[in-house]
Amino acid sequence: MQAVIQDRYGSADVVRWGELPDPVPADDEILLRVRAVSLNGSDRENLAGRPAYARWTNGLRRPRNPVPGSDVAGVVAAVGRRVTEYAWGDQLYGELAGYRGGMAELVATRPKLLARKPDGLSFVEAAAIPQAGGIARRATAGVRPGDAVLVNGAGGAGGVFVVGLAKHAGAEVTAVDRGDKADFLNEIGADHTIDFAKDDWADERGRYDLIVDLVAERSPFRVHHALRPGGRYAMLGGRARILLGTASLGPLVGRVHGKRVGVLVVPQSRAELESVSALIRQGAFTPRIDSVYPLHDAKAALARLAAGDSRGKIVLEVPEG
Ligand SMILES: NC(=O)c1ccc[n+]([C@@H]2O[C@H](COP(=O)([O-])OP(=O)(O)OC[C@H]3O[C@@H](n4cnc5c(N)ncnc54)[C@H](OP(=O)(O)O)[C@@H]3O)[C@@H](O)[C@H]2O)c1
Repeated sequence: MQAVIQDRYGSADVVRWGELPDPVPADDEILLRVRAVSLNGSDRENLAGRPAYARWTNGLRRPRNPVPGSDVAGVVAAVGRRVTEYAWGDQLYGELAGYRGGMAELVATRPKLLARKPDGLSFVEAAAIPQAGGIARRATAGVRPGDAVLVNGAGGAGGVFVVGLAKHAGAEVTAVDRGDKADFLNEIGADHTIDFAKDDWADERGRYDLIVDLVAERSPFRVHHALRPGGRYAMLGGRARILLGTASLGPLVGRVHGKRVGVLVVPQSRAELESVSALIRQGAFTPRIDSVYPLHDAKAALARLAAGDSRGKIVLEVPEG
């Protein structure tokens, strides 16, 4: 098969388009013919090997799985002997284990990570959803009309979905990102925007019911001040040191101040994905596509991701046939 190959960590220039042996599905796996794969912040991290947690699971010196790519949509090309839930020709979508393996014509994976592609969505649209949709659904669970929600890193892959779902729930949303994304953030529904280079949202006191932090760089001792009593701070990604501090000390800091502070880990499973599919059916959100590249142009797509110029999802497509 043809695939995008990454032998070392670095910039978009480290990837190449090349030939790899076709994967052979184990008895409990399916072989998916990839039709589209979308890019997330995790692809940027796994390309660079930064923050440090990108190497904890992927390999310390170089990626163990040389094929990047996490969020896929495609067609079942073969099933292992013990797979009962899917058959040849089924159209599926999902997030691959370890966020790797998707930028290839074929990928072998466990069927429990995949769900049926929602009706009415193209492969490109479906591939745009799994990770970002899962983050948004979990992060905004329990949001009520009128809640004040702040999304830090709102203009990225996950943030756009978080803003969309929070607005769908009736929240008043403050979106924090680069200043030149303000128009885009307003367009997707943000009520207020903050340019992180000019203002520090963590200086605010008692304003938010929920803070969703996709690019955390502040300690749990600082972020809780911006929450109302009973409010919740959920860290999704950011600096490795902050991740460790928030995971270990956040719950204690939260308890002392009558708030909830911690790291939100979104499980990868079919059940999660089916909950996201249900939200799509209800019209709670639709994916925003920034650009579509042919899979062999992954270098250009990853360079766009690294530059931070996208307004919505970047998707790589494998034409049919
Ligand atoms: N906890 C979990 O279960 C889980 C699951 C999957 C992924 N994640 C993590 O979630 C994180 C976010 O993912 P994503 O796909 O949304 O990332 P992303 O697409 O890279 O989005 C991050 C956004 O934040 C902006 N930004 C950069 N520095 C900022 C700052 N100091 N303050 C505010 N905004 C800033 C970025 O702008 P530029 O693009 O211009 O830099 C970008 O718009 C990643 O770390 C990923 O690993 C967590």
